[in-house]
Amino acid sequence: MRNLTSRVATGLVLIVFYLTLLPFLMHGLGMIGVGLSEDAARQSYLFSDRQDVGNAAMMLHIFAGTLLVALVPLQLLQGLRLRFIGFHRMLGRLLVTLALITGLAGMTYIPLRGTIGGPLMSAAFFLYGLCLFTAGLMVPRMALIRDRAGHWAWGLRLFWLALGSWLYRVHYTLWYLLTGGVGSEPDFSGPFDLAQNFAFFVPYLLAVQMWIISKRSAHQGVLAKIL
Ligand code: HEM
Repeated sequence: MRNLTSRVATGLVLIVFYLTLLPFLMHGLGMIGVGLSEDAARQSYLFSDRQDVGNAAMMLHIFAGTLLVALVPLQLLQGLRLRFIGFHRMLGRLLVTLALITGLAGMTYIPLRGTIGGPLMSAAFFLYGLCLFTAGLMVPRMALIRDRAGHWAWGLRLFWLALGSWLYRVHYTLWYLLTGGVGSEPDFSGPFDLAQNFAFFVPYLLAVQMWIISKRSAHQGVLAKIL
């Protein structure tokens, strides 16, 4: 009975989570449509008239990033992980590939085109890309050297970094609902915008680090079963 209750609760949390992710995923698909259209440059500042590396990088970035956000919640489901180890490994490989592509394509785009918020936003987003890319490398590395605690810790970091782009939009949505956009400017130069350059991934990484330190020993037993 307790098992059933916890499964129903997990299912409900997952449904609510996906409902909140949905607008972001639809936005990503919409932007892919814009990128593929003939007048992409007129519809979005992200694309130029020339079919160049910048356009290709942004398309690849949005495609891989949207898939990453759509799939990453599944990797944390304990039921799936323990019962279908093959699925966990296959999805893990796919998520790592998507994270590497998303980060690399974003880091290619930034030096070519910059960002709407200028140098600070470019630097912050580049750092975010570097973090995602590093986590994407460290998760399989830890699995390969059979460091279970390391694999779990880097997996958690990858999870929160993968959701970073969505969290960025969540922060803005909540802030605009609560304050009407105090401290936020159209060119992203307001104090809220400047803080947001880092606030969607740095605090989450710090919180994850504290969680890892407190839970590390308890998780080692569970991971022994899946690696
Ligand atoms: C993890 C999943 C990610 C998803 C789903 C994602 C999605 C998107 C989308 C849809 C856009 C188009 C802008 C918009 O319409 O809002 C975009 C822009 C951008 N992304 Fe990502 N992204 C992700 C991660 C990253 C990472 C890791 C980096 C860092 C390298 C990054 C850097 C950028 C940059 C620089 C832009 C253009 C910003 C601008 O000037 O407006 N993104 N991303």
